[in-house]
Amino acid sequence: MKRILSGVQPSGQIHLGNYLGAIRKHIEMQKNHECYLFIADLHALTTVRDPDQMRENVLNLAKAYIALGLDTKKTVFFQQSAIAEHSELCWILDSLTPMGLLERAHAWKDAKAKGKKEATVGLFNYPVLQAADILLYKPDLVPVGQDQKQHIEMTRDIAIKFNQTYGETFHLPEPLIGEDVAVIPGTDGQKMSKSYGNTIDIFADDRTLKKQVMGIQTNSTPLEKPKDTKKCIVFNLYSLLATPTETTSLAKKYKKGGFGYGDAKKLLLEKILDHFGEARKTFFNLDKNPKIVQNTLLQGNKKAKALAEKTLEEVKKKAGLI
Ligand code: ADP
Ligand code: TRP
Repeated sequence: MKRILSGVQPSGQIHLGNYLGAIRKHIEMQKNHECYLFIADLHALTTVRDPDQMRENVLNLAKAYIALGLDTKKTVFFQQSAIAEHSELCWILDSLTPMGLLERAHAWKDAKAKGKKEATVGLFNYPVLQAADILLYKPDLVPVGQDQKQHIEMTRDIAIKFNQTYGETFHLPEPLIGEDVAVIPGTDGQKMSKSYGNTIDIFADDRTLKKQVMGIQTNSTPLEKPKDTKKCIVFNLYSLLATPTETTSLAKKYKKGGFGYGDAKKLLLEKILDHFGEARKTFFNLDKNPKIVQNTLLQGNKKAKALAEKTLEEVKKKAGLI
């Protein structure tokens, strides 16, 4: 059985982009893979500075995964900061990683150009911590969204450098990117992202969710005219959750005309509430029992630690630290 590993930052509400681009795949993959999945709270430190917010985000992310069907008996589900080996391996890899490699990172270049994110050492070093996260558990595959492809390539470069320096230690992980859902559009048509404020939040209260869906940007084609499905965000999102038959049926309505974007949005909202109905119930129930969630993470941490310790010991021996 192949081993997969992935991490998700606890940086806010969980949105459709996170679900369709990452979470859904993580949950599906536990059926036929050995899975390691973690909450990347150390990475989130580069943006989340409020401690209460951080705690809430970690809890919310854990609740979301459990509510969406993660089987924590099958998947090792843990919190990155609880495993000190991530930071320790990060430093060892730092000492081998050329500055030039990190200077080429899209995320870093963006942060510097747009000035939106503070250009900290942590942000610069972000890909090395990610490499440490991955290499510690020696996974075969790393399922991520398209935006993370470069980080996995950097992980491979760093692993090659380590192997060349100290002898064969890490095999090179492959990114696993679902092409069909490579980039989920947000309500304004840009990539759905917390940082653009264009998300549809799966676990928002009913009113907020409705507001987000009704706020999706559409063009000005009048109600009676036929509409183009290709460029329509509402149609695009609907098709990602609906069955092929349902999607064809909506496409027919678009083509025929006499069907407004408001009607399409209502269908999308219904689809979302239907698709995530059970998960939303479980999520809100877990709110009343945060201990269940905390205990789940504690158990995952223990299992992850066992493997991380083993790899770090091997690395330290190779580097002459022990
Ligand atoms: P955000 O951009 O909202 O801050 P994150 O960077 O925390 O989202 O992303 C968490 C996971 O969800 C990553 O694996 C990322 O690739 C995936 N993801 C986020 N937004 C999208 C999107 N619009 N389309 C596809 N995948 C996405
Ligand atoms: N950088 C990833 C993101 O923003 C999160 C992440 C951190 C990750 N460490 C990882 C993903 C290791 C995969 C493997 O989505």
